[in-house]
Amino acid sequence: MKKVLILCVTMALVTSLATLVIAQNQGPDEVTFTPKMGTVTFNHAAHQGLTDCATCHHTGEFAQCSSCHGVTDDAPKAKDAFHTLCKDCHKESAKGPTKCKECHVK
Ligand code: HEC
Ligand code: HEC
Ligand code: HEC
Ligand code: HEC
Repeated sequence: MKKVLILCVTMALVTSLATLVIAQNQGPDEVTFTPKMGTVTFNHAAHQGLTDCATCHHTGEFAQCSSCHGVTDDAPKAKDAFHTLCKDCHKESAKGPTKCKECHVK
């Protein structure tokens, strides 16, 4: 009986820990970029359901894109990386905005 109890407590702990880790990694509901060209509102929650995390978080960690893009020499400028990623998928799936002012709102 004692063993079963310990097992239950352990499992409950593991489950809550896993939930916590997932919740932490879940990401924001919405991300707002504010370049001079005009504000881009990115519905993160909606996009999470469309493809794997790694399609966008290609480094396998959930760091800010701008921690590398526009910073390190090997990473393309943020503007180019985002335009490639965002626009290409919208074109391919024939859904989502592809025109400047559909994304950039002043
Ligand atoms: C369509 C692209 C896309 C997909 C798919 C996606 N994300 Fe994101 N995610 C982003 C962008 C863009 C940001 C904003 C990063 C920034 O501010 O530079 C972000 C931010 C985050 C952040 C916050 C990072 C920080 O330090 O501010 C977390 C955590 C995160 N995403 C987790 C996830 C998880 C988990 C998944 C899969 C279930 C996922 N994302 C799927 C594009 C995506
Ligand atoms: C740890 C550094 C780092 C982080 C964080 C990072 N990237 Fe990158 N990214 C790179 C490097 C380096 C390259 C170029 C080499 C390669 O393709 O892997 C790259 C390439 C890309 C490309 C391909 C560009 C092209 O023209 O083919 C896209 C798109 C991209 N990143 C988008 C993102 C997005 C969106 C985020 C945030 C969700 C992000 N990256 C986070 C370092 C990073
Ligand atoms: C894997 C494909 C994919 C990628 C990558 C992607 N999108 Fe989308 N996006 C879509 C699809 C599909 C829709 C249409 C969703 C719908 O109509 O239900 C959409 C819709 C949108 C919309 C309009 C609807 C809304 O959610 O407000 C905006 C704005 C948008 N995307 C911005 C972005 C930005 C910014 C990025 C890059 C950080 C991006 N998307 C990356 C597939 C993608
Ligand atoms: C799918 C959404 C989307 C579309 C369509 C789009 N952009 Fe962007 N654009 C972005 C995102 C996201 C960024 C990155 C913002 C950041 O890093 O703060 C960006 C960045 C930029 C920047 C750099 C911002 C700065 O002030 O440094 C310029 C300039 C720009 N876009 C111009 C354009 C033009 C011109 C078009 C049309 C030909 C266009 N964009 C279409 C999403 C989009």
